[in-house]
Amino acid sequence: MGRASLDKQPHEVAAMFDGVAARYDRTNTILSVGLDRTWRRATRHALGLRPGQRCLDLAAGTGVSTGELARSGAYLVGADLSLGMLGVGRRTRPDTVLLAGDAVALPFADGAFDAVTISFGLRNVVNPLAALKEMARVTRPGGRLVVCEFSAPVNRAFRRVYLGYLMRALPGLARRVSSNPEAYVYLAESIRAWPDQAGLATLVQKAGWTEVSWRNLTGGIVALHRAVRAR
Ligand SMILES: C[S@@+](CC[C@H](N)C(=O)[O-])C[C@H]1O[C@@H](n2cnc3c(N)ncnc32)[C@H](O)[C@@H]1O
Repeated sequence: MGRASLDKQPHEVAAMFDGVAARYDRTNTILSVGLDRTWRRATRHALGLRPGQRCLDLAAGTGVSTGELARSGAYLVGADLSLGMLGVGRRTRPDTVLLAGDAVALPFADGAFDAVTISFGLRNVVNPLAALKEMARVTRPGGRLVVCEFSAPVNRAFRRVYLGYLMRALPGLARRVSSNPEAYVYLAESIRAWPDQAGLATLVQKAGWTEVSWRNLTGGIVALHRAVRAR
């Protein structure tokens, strides 16, 4: 694959993730120095799922986010566009329900879920506004949304150091640990191009969600956006 461009078609996004699937979980934990586990746990807490509730984990990939959320006792369904990621997930997490599905045309009925969530996936969806609207469609009125996504560190000095890591150190590190280092150049560039906390909140609101708020994790490297489906 050539240099990763931010202007991708859905099948190119899926192909890129097919290419990193084999080492995805391990690479993530190395590149985030283990922080991904803390962020996933915080996402589970933010969702506040109760046993028996139905929750969709969109862009579930290998199911690493889905597995963490299932610890709540809720019934989890993971969906993703990349058959390669789903294949690794089905092999390594046979108890996790992982289905093929596109974020902008989900194979679920209106109001099918009590909650919908997406971790480190919305940034990769070609049309995030359409995906947020589709997520609202499959959530019951009063149901919840949590978006866990890379965001903008709030402290300026920290932000400079972080962007340096992202644009210089991370691609080099990825060359040593990932099965497709180019995908991690894309990762860095897509994080830089993604809206900040307030920008994403506006997008979530525009998609029809209400009570939109956010909380920063690790100084704003990641933000958790929460919202409620209008009744
Ligand atoms: C960085 S991975 C995140 C995986 C997992 N949620 C996690 O927390 O590690 C992003 C995922 O988004 C998926 N994706 C991108 N566009 C998608 C779309 N339109 N519909 C469904 N999944 C999509 C990719 O295939 C990839 O598996």
